Amino acid sequence: MALSPSSPSVMVLLYFVLSWTFLLGGNGNGVAVAGASRSTALRFAAEFDSVSSRRVLLNNGLALTPPMGWNSWNHFQCNLNENLIKETADAMVSSGLAALGYEYINLDDCWAELDRDSKGNLVAKASTFPSGIKALADYVHRKGLKLGIYSDAGIQTCSKKMPGSLGNEEQDAKTFASWGIDYLKYDNCENTGTSPKERYPKMTKALQQSGRPILFSLCEWGQEDPATWAVNVGNSWRTTSDIQDNWISMTTIADQNDKWASYAKPGGWNDPDMLEVGNGGMTTAEYRSHFSIWALAKAPLLIGCDIRSMDNITMKLLSNKEVIAVNQDKLGVQGKKVYKYGDLEVWAGPLSGKRVAVVLWNRGLWRANITASWSDIGLCSSTTVTARDLWQHSSQVVQHHLTAQVDSHDCKMFVLTPH
Ligand SMILES: *[C@@H]1O[C@H](CO)[C@@H](O)[C@H](O)[C@H]1NC(C)=O
Ligand SMILES: *[C@@H]1O[C@H](CO)[C@@H](O)[C@H](O)[C@H]1NC(C)=O
Repeated sequence: MALSPSSPSVMVLLYFVLSWTFLLGGNGNGVAVAGASRSTALRFAAEFDSVSSRRVLLNNGLALTPPMGWNSWNHFQCNLNENLIKETADAMVSSGLAALGYEYINLDDCWAELDRDSKGNLVAKASTFPSGIKALADYVHRKGLKLGIYSDAGIQTCSKKMPGSLGNEEQDAKTFASWGIDYLKYDNCENTGTSPKERYPKMTKALQQSGRPILFSLCEWGQEDPATWAVNVGNSWRTTSDIQDNWISMTTIADQNDKWASYAKPGGWNDPDMLEVGNGGMTTAEYRSHFSIWALAKAPLLIGCDIRSMDNITMKLLSNKEVIAVNQDKLGVQGKKVYKYGDLEVWAGPLSGKRVAVVLWNRGLWRANITASWSDIGLCSSTTVTARDLWQHSSQVVQHHLTAQVDSHDCKMFVLTPH
């Protein structure tokens, strides 16, 4: 007999395993995850007031909501050239993604020659970017989009195919500004062992003095807990090593990034790395979970697939306006894991207008019902809400708790609006 996920014997076994797990944990009702409560939401709201006063080094007024756009690395690695970038900019507009807020077109590693010119300037690789970066920026700007570039707080970049900017911060920042660059991703390879706390602020200052507002994206892989110091240094900071296009990597990174939730604010965001949606290594359910959790966690939404040829399912995931609106909510509070019952999880966070965003996430192998209790997501127990299902695009009125059946590795995402 083949056991189907919904067969009674499997469900009994599942519940036995779950109950047993939590008997061992001493809590038959599951685990409220640390720091998740109404008081957290209120504290976050209070911190929001001090956004403008926390800027010491970095005062560029950028990334008041998480940056949205595209980056070449996850799909193309070193195989990028100016035609690809132009076609990607074209597709961003023609697909309708640009109108939804995806604005940055970001080059990653391998765009430059191995050697600087005689004056010490970075030079675009002649074989792949023959027209130069300035011409490319002009093209992208004419489309109403912004151009991002990549360098490294070390001697060379990770590919070792181009120079890093360590020791050349001012010159390189000026070069980027003269080309019309809008965003810098700054990697951590070949770094001579000096602390990132010394290497990254040098580029912050150089960008500040470059004469152009350039969004600064730190990529030191979470090595020295950048959430605790990078808020004055960059507009976003990676909290983890590189994402891979599979379920284990994506879920691991989601959890590692979650630890730093309280540090994210308008102007400075935790970055669990770029999206893999559309690259083929996960199921549609898994990509829906990936996109929903990244949106809730106020992660930068940087598409990592080939948008020139994405399929309709990918487009449908990336273009969900209601999910994007959670990510771009002006309150700017990172949602987090608030409750866990084995593989069944509730993630939530406050939104503007006293609303609450909730993701019911089934990380297990079988379909299951998941419940979010008001006490776990910062609502008074008597509150009646309209619960908007952001993937079904339907609404229901509920009280006390929200329960939904969720397929394996899938999620449901809601916005709750109190009456
Ligand atoms: C994808 O969407 C387009 C436009 O909405 C439609 O014309 C096309 O038939 C769809 N393709 C598939 C395979 O569903
Ligand atoms: C979820 O709850 C509904 C309603 O009580 C029930 O019909 C369904 O069988 C449950 N699903 C699972 C997977 O337990």
